[in-house]
Amino acid sequence: MDIQTLERSFAAYFNSKPEFIVRAPGRVNLIGEHTDYNDGFVLPMAIDRAIWIALSPRADSQIRIRSLDLEADSAFDLNSLTKSEGWVEYVKGVAYELQKAGYKLRGFDGVMTGNIPRGAGLSSSAAVELATACAFASVSGFDWDAAQMAKLAQKAENEWVGVNCGIMDQMASAACKEGYALFLDCRTLEYQHAPLPENASLVILDTSTRRGLVDSAYNERRSQCEEAARWFGVKALRDVSVADFNRSNAESELSEIVMKRARHIITENARVLEAVNVMKAGNVMRLGELFNASHDSLRDDFEVTNDALNIMVTSAREQPSCYGARMTGAGFGGCAVALVEKENAQEFAKTVSTIYKQKSGLEASIYVCKASEGASVVIG
Ligand code: GLA
Repeated sequence: MDIQTLERSFAAYFNSKPEFIVRAPGRVNLIGEHTDYNDGFVLPMAIDRAIWIALSPRADSQIRIRSLDLEADSAFDLNSLTKSEGWVEYVKGVAYELQKAGYKLRGFDGVMTGNIPRGAGLSSSAAVELATACAFASVSGFDWDAAQMAKLAQKAENEWVGVNCGIMDQMASAACKEGYALFLDCRTLEYQHAPLPENASLVILDTSTRRGLVDSAYNERRSQCEEAARWFGVKALRDVSVADFNRSNAESELSEIVMKRARHIITENARVLEAVNVMKAGNVMRLGELFNASHDSLRDDFEVTNDALNIMVTSAREQPSCYGARMTGAGFGGCAVALVEKENAQEFAKTVSTIYKQKSGLEASIYVCKASEGASVVIG
């Protein structure tokens, strides 16, 4: 992102230099899919794509904000928030939750821009929420508490915007550290920064398909998981180990669908724990195998892949430089992520684009990504 362009755009709208520039990144989840709302474990990393807001405080309680990418303006008053539709609801929802939690907010003038593809499973909405929280923290002068900000942002998304997501995306955007993945316990919100393998690159493979009907399918998966947890007599599937599952009568007593959903979550949690250990030990081969097992489980047991994701993952795995590949995010379209030998990553991206196009007829967008810092103040 070119900071000078952002400053110039701010000046064009508000006739002054912005006092602050803040940013919050999107994320790619390395492993631990659909485990967050089961109180489980996840391992996302912040990517080098983000949302930026240039802003200056106002003396009153007005928010005036321009989206450069959507070429749209919006204005509202912090003292009289009402729901409507569109991109600014993420901003309003965060303002609402921050105020409800007792934060005293100041108004601001701001311009927003970003380079996270929307609907691709890279958490562009969490990035808007956390950039907004960071903007308010800057102009209103309160400290950044990553877990608290992530929780309020998630509440904004659940209750104001009306999307029933878990906590992973907001925590990744709020709390990641450059060069590391975030090993997060979604029950306690305790986290560790987990070092990434040195000789491997993480490559994002955007299928260019976008999720359709995702809300209903996502909510359906959530209730199937809750049903399984009730059957096991636990608070959440996080409390069931692979050994518990194998010892139980789940396979004969639960409906096949609910059993499969549970099996995915239970084995996926185990894979995240192993992934963290093998990452620490520098065992990239095993990490790749875990990526593969995760995808297969999401395809066969959780049933959230689509043809494009499966073609992409198969094309990636065919490359000798690829340790493993899997879909990432909610599924039903969007992106996959592959673990690839560092020195061959660019070549890998080119070859997989060609093969994917031959097999699917679709144009992919494939890029090596860097693990970036969570939400931060760039200037100010
Ligand atoms: C979406 C949700 C997250 C998480 C993932 C699946 O990204 O926002 O909370 O549930 O799907 O792992």
